Amino acid sequence: MPKTKPLSLIHRPRRLRRTAALRSLVQENHLTVNDLIYPLFVMEGENKQEEIVSMPGSYRYSLDLLLKEIVEAFGLGIKAIALFPLVPDEKKDNQGTEGYNADGLVQQTVKAIKKEVPDITIITDVALDPFSTYGHDGIVEDGKILNDETVAVLAKMAVSQAAAGADVVAPSDMMDGRVGAIRQALDEAGYLDVAILAYSAKYASAYYGPFRDALSSAPQFGDKKTYQMDPANTRESLKEVGLDIAEGADLVMVKPALAYLDIIHLIREHTQLPVAAYNVSGEYAMIKAAAEKGWIDEKKVVLETLTSMKRAGADLILTYFAKEVALMLL
Ligand code: PBG
Repeated sequence: MPKTKPLSLIHRPRRLRRTAALRSLVQENHLTVNDLIYPLFVMEGENKQEEIVSMPGSYRYSLDLLLKEIVEAFGLGIKAIALFPLVPDEKKDNQGTEGYNADGLVQQTVKAIKKEVPDITIITDVALDPFSTYGHDGIVEDGKILNDETVAVLAKMAVSQAAAGADVVAPSDMMDGRVGAIRQALDEAGYLDVAILAYSAKYASAYYGPFRDALSSAPQFGDKKTYQMDPANTRESLKEVGLDIAEGADLVMVKPALAYLDIIHLIREHTQLPVAAYNVSGEYAMIKAAAEKGWIDEKKVVLETLTSMKRAGADLILTYFAKEVALMLL
């Protein structure tokens, strides 16, 4: 190259990007294994592990194999899991009764995890859909989802999960008033220290498809738009988060994450509570599918994607990539 006269620049931002050491000194956001919550699917039976077709690398486990997976995850530094059950059709009904069966799959699983890995934080899902014949998050009457009747069931579910040993209960249903009712029910039952992770800004998203495959929990009619939020709305997320905090939420969540980074950012600016982001099943599936085709570098895309959630303001990330990421960060 012929000699060029240097530009007289005062600032050359590239100075701080010159070496890996310099870059790491000025890195603003960090993804660590402490940020990760590992969602896991449990099913009845023994020695069973089924790969979820639309979520390659994710499995439904029977309890014995789930425990192995959790021991491994904990060994990698993952400190929290979020549990979701696959419920056989014959145990489903319109009221989600199985959800508060003291000997139900979730309750048995929580007890077994507490025994095997006492120091891992167990987060249980509070919603009717895995237990509902209709695949809806609430009780159905004349094609409508009943709010207050559903909230009463959710409170019972939360108490029975706490009784089994859950550390955190996470209502993902989007019924009005459920956080307050759950807090009151937990306190009355003596579970003062069980925390509530509220799915506060949960949108009616097409990104949940693979999760519904995993649990055979797709809605049998209609959609979830009468309770989950409209993806076009921003201000409404502040309203939902504000209500959940007023009702006693300990942590709030934005879900999905990737298409809602603006919402994560907004909520982070408006609340002192920890904010969780759910890197949902469809976000996982898209990366897996493109990587399988050899079109993207999976590891790099996963780290970049999860870091974008931290940058947006998430303190915690629920992700099916948790174990993979923990291994990458070792
Ligand atoms: C339902 C629930 C859903 C997810 C978590 N809890 C699906 C839905 O609302 O239909 C989705 C998680 C994911 O897609 O990874 N209460």
